[in-house]
This record gives sequence, structure tokens and C-alpha cells, in this order.
Amino acid sequence: MKPYSGACDQNRDPILAVLKELLAVETIDPQPKILEVGTGTAQHAVYFAKAFPQATWQCSDQQQYHAGIQLWLDEAQLPNLIPPISLNVSKDPWPTEKFDVLYSANVMHIMHWQNVIDLFKQGANCLKPSGLMVCYGPFNFAGQYTSPSNAQFDQSLRMRDPESGIRNFEDLQKLADEAELNFVSNYEMPANNRILVWQK
Ligand SMILES: C[S@@+](CC[C@H](N)C(=O)[O-])C[C@H]1O[C@@H](n2cnc3c(N)ncnc32)[C@H](O)[C@@H]1O
Repeated sequence: MKPYSGACDQNRDPILAVLKELLAVETIDPQPKILEVGTGTAQHAVYFAKAFPQATWQCSDQQQYHAGIQLWLDEAQLPNLIPPISLNVSKDPWPTEKFDVLYSANVMHIMHWQNVIDLFKQGANCLKPSGLMVCYGPFNFAGQYTSPSNAQFDQSLRMRDPESGIRNFEDLQKLADEAELNFVSNYEMPANNRILVWQK
């Protein structure tokens, strides 16, 4: 049976609206190549590849997610949706190809801090000049939660895995600076989430 995430159904349209805005800028190739890190169920990949038929959507995730992703891809049969490459951001070789956009949703608070470091370092290296790193999820600002529900969520994440947790924007910005990525936008999203965008 295909893996399913209710959250992906709820957040896909608000994310799509932001992606439409970001992909419309003239510095982005009208036929963009997008690398998704942490494709998960592939619900976003299918929805966004359908919405942007001119784009190429490259899925990636850790090997254990691939069978589930493939079930969604087999059903969708979209020519611009490319089967997943194995990508644990700290362990696997990154693609040598350059992308217009690196997209990840609900990934940074799940992965360990060292993985976040590697995501910025290697992700920046994977982007074309002016390419965008687009990250959806819950984030803290100046060490503060943006809602009580995010504080509870963070506690539950850390109880399950002490190395996971909601990331602080200022810490991410340091990694972005080191990777020579410029911060461009912070979109407020439903359910106390954000989309943070950096540009190479
Ligand atoms: C909560 S799921 C999100 C999946 C999907 N993007 C979504 O929005 O539903 C977290 C994802 O982070 C990925 N992830 C965690 N650690 C990772 C790592 N070190 N390298 C690459 N992906 C990682 C998991 O494999 C999983 O796909």
C-alpha cells in the first residue's frame, strides 16, 4: 500500500502557491530542474510535478523510503518526475548535476544537526548560480517558538530522538553564510510553519 501523510494533503496548496511565485522569477530557468531532499511519501513530488509540467522533479531520500516513493511514481506516470536517488545528505554522494531549486519539506527538524550542516554545504554546491534552496517546516526565531503547539511538537521530537528538533533560523543563517547562500524570504504558512528561501 502507498505510504500516506495527511499533512502533505493539507500543506500542498499553500506550498504550491509559494513555489509558483518563486519559479516565476526571471533568474530561474523556465524549465527548472528541482532536487527534492527527503521526498518521504512522494505526495508533494507527484502534486508539484503535475503542477509544473515544464520542470523536472528529481526525488531523493534514504534507501528505506524508495519502495513507497516508487508506488506513488508508478501510479502517477509523469514523464517529468524522476525516480529517487539514494541520498542521505551526510553519507551518500550528492548528484554532480546542478539544479535550479533544492526543495525540502519537514526535513530539517527530523535530521540530526550534522545532517543539516551537510545539507547546506552540499546543497549549495548542487545549485546553479541564482539557484534557490526552499525549505518548508517549523522554525524558531531568536530561540523562540512561534506557537505553543510548535513547543510541544519540539518536545515530542526530542523525546523520540534527542538529536532532532526544530531548528533556529539564526543557526541556519550561519550555515547559509558559510555556504554563500543569501537569505531571500520567510513566508508565513498555515499551522505555524514557514518557507525559508536562500539563493546562491
Ligand atoms: C517527516 S519526513 C518528511 C517527508 C516529506 N518531505 C513530507 O513533507 O512529508 C522527514 C524526511 O527527512 C528525511 N531525512 C531524515 N534524515 C535524513 C538524512 N540524513 N538525509 C536525507 N534525508 C533525511 C527522511 O528520510 C524523511 O523523508
